[in-house]
Amino acid sequence: MKPFDILGLEDTVMSKQNVTAKLRIWRGVYCSIITLGALAFLLSFASLSRFSFKSLLGNEVLCTHVNHEAATGIQNEAGRTLEIVIQKIQQELDSLKDADPSSSASRLDHGAFLADILGLLESVQASLPQCEGNEQQNGANITAHPLVKAKIQSDEPANFFLREEIRKYVRIKLNRLGKQNFMGANGTFTSIGHACFTMKEELEEYMDYDIGEMCNDDWRLAQKLMVHGCDPLPRRRCFARAPKLYSSPYPIDESMWKLPDDRNVRWSHYRCKNFACLGSNATRKGFFKCADCFNLTDHEMPRWVKLDSDDTADFLISDVLDIKPGEIRIGLDFSVGTGTFAARMREFNVTIVSATINLGAPFNEMIALRGLVPLYLTINQRLPFFDNTLDLIHTTRFLDGWIDLVLLDFVLYDWDRVLRPGGLLWIDSFFCSKEDLDYYLESFKMLRYKKHKWVIVPKLDKDDKEVFFSAVLEKQPRPFR
Ligand SMILES: *[C@@H]1O[C@H](CO)[C@@H](O)[C@H](O)[C@H]1NC(C)=O
Ligand SMILES: *[C@@H]1O[C@H](CO)[C@@H](O)[C@H](O)[C@H]1NC(C)=O
Ligand SMILES: *[C@@H]1O[C@H](CO)[C@@H](O)[C@H](O)[C@H]1NC(C)=O
Ligand SMILES: *[C@@H]1O[C@H](CO)[C@@H](O)[C@H](O)[C@H]1NC(C)=O
Ligand SMILES: *[C@@H]1O[C@H](CO)[C@@H](O)[C@H](O)[C@H]1NC(C)=O
Repeated sequence: MKPFDILGLEDTVMSKQNVTAKLRIWRGVYCSIITLGALAFLLSFASLSRFSFKSLLGNEVLCTHVNHEAATGIQNEAGRTLEIVIQKIQQELDSLKDADPSSSASRLDHGAFLADILGLLESVQASLPQCEGNEQQNGANITAHPLVKAKIQSDEPANFFLREEIRKYVRIKLNRLGKQNFMGANGTFTSIGHACFTMKEELEEYMDYDIGEMCNDDWRLAQKLMVHGCDPLPRRRCFARAPKLYSSPYPIDESMWKLPDDRNVRWSHYRCKNFACLGSNATRKGFFKCADCFNLTDHEMPRWVKLDSDDTADFLISDVLDIKPGEIRIGLDFSVGTGTFAARMREFNVTIVSATINLGAPFNEMIALRGLVPLYLTINQRLPFFDNTLDLIHTTRFLDGWIDLVLLDFVLYDWDRVLRPGGLLWIDSFFCSKEDLDYYLESFKMLRYKKHKWVIVPKLDKDDKEVFFSAVLEKQPRPFR
């Protein structure tokens, strides 16, 4: 897609080069004419005055030149036409909105179509060099005030959507009385993930509710939006559905190792309708990577406190904590699971937050009902922790051979950011094909952490082509120079 071509950007680039070349020549000429005499000076001045001297040094050269050059005037023409078209579409959209709200589906389609076109046009307009302004301002205030600029642009994302509730959410909320708030901002910038724009229909469905009423039972739609990059999601002004009969959770001394009360979960959109189903071995009813996670007694109990064999990629929690006795107090578990890692760490007086989404099973509810802290978080986002704060990051069954190497880099740097110096990164059974292993290991080595544990174990169930990799690594101090 090259919208610029239509608007003759290549022409302007060419002409920019021409201008610079011309300027050099003109300057040379300018110098020599002084020595040649007044007549020559006057003559050359007449042609030189076509350029604005004031703007010779700035970027405006391009624009000023373009304005005066009839051939490249097309660009401004296009810009103006674009503005008119945008205005017309906006008027049409407004009149659509003012019309009968219970309008027909075709009218909604019509509106959606127009909003779509509008979004495209506005993106083209935004990419046009801003020349018209300079024409009038003549360099007086070329740089718009940041907030003024932001205000103009902020309406663009809002206009992309037809549903009023999204538009309301996305618009910048300036503080009342035009003052700065205690955080030093003039307004609040509620944001949504950029992929929301490619999932417009789903997002409009998600935001289709009556303010103050019950939301639809659409957690699954919300999760789909998030996983596909509409993350963060907009907030909503409706009440989230709750289970019909919520019974109090089990007391903390019981809750950790007992399947929770089925009534405390909304089972809609799951194949299983109770915890026993998720825990049973008969069918793989949960998330395939975590089919046994709800079998607390047999599958979860021994994890990290008992080793099956010597030939395993697992480490014992006690061994890892012994690397830094008493120093590991808080951490993050970025895994797929029911919180057993956090439950075990709790016994060692370590507080772990478990980040997971509800892939095929109510993992978040399960973790919370066990009495642990769930964090509903996708891999799309920067971690909500400040730099150098956590003692430990543990990850298992999550980062695997599916992950893009550039993404892995961004994730690892982010984890490094939140780990404190001396903090531990526990990669637990990272699994990938043998061929890919070296690429992934390079990423982990890139961190230049101290290796406390480092094992590579063949995965036996699949013709020897896959491996597990586990490591415990320590972040090194980075003196601030
Ligand atoms: C210059 O900026 C101010 C606000 O900063 C604005 O009121 C004024 O109209 C601008 N001038 C021109 C020529 O656009
Ligand atoms: C906020 O508004 C005040 C005046 O109302 C202005 O002085 C200040 O520069 C603005 N701050 C930002 C970050 O735009
Ligand atoms: C948990 O797993 C064990 C062994 O895999 C199995 O015998 C047991 O029936 C499972 N528990 C439940 C509740 O299904
Ligand atoms: C339970 O399922 C797992 C894998 O799905 C299997 O390895 C295990 O043998 C099963 N256990 C029983 C008792 O069926
Ligand atoms: C955890 O803390 C409790 C109370 O402070 C203490 O009695 C217990 O020994 C600690 N456990 C471990 C493993 O340090």
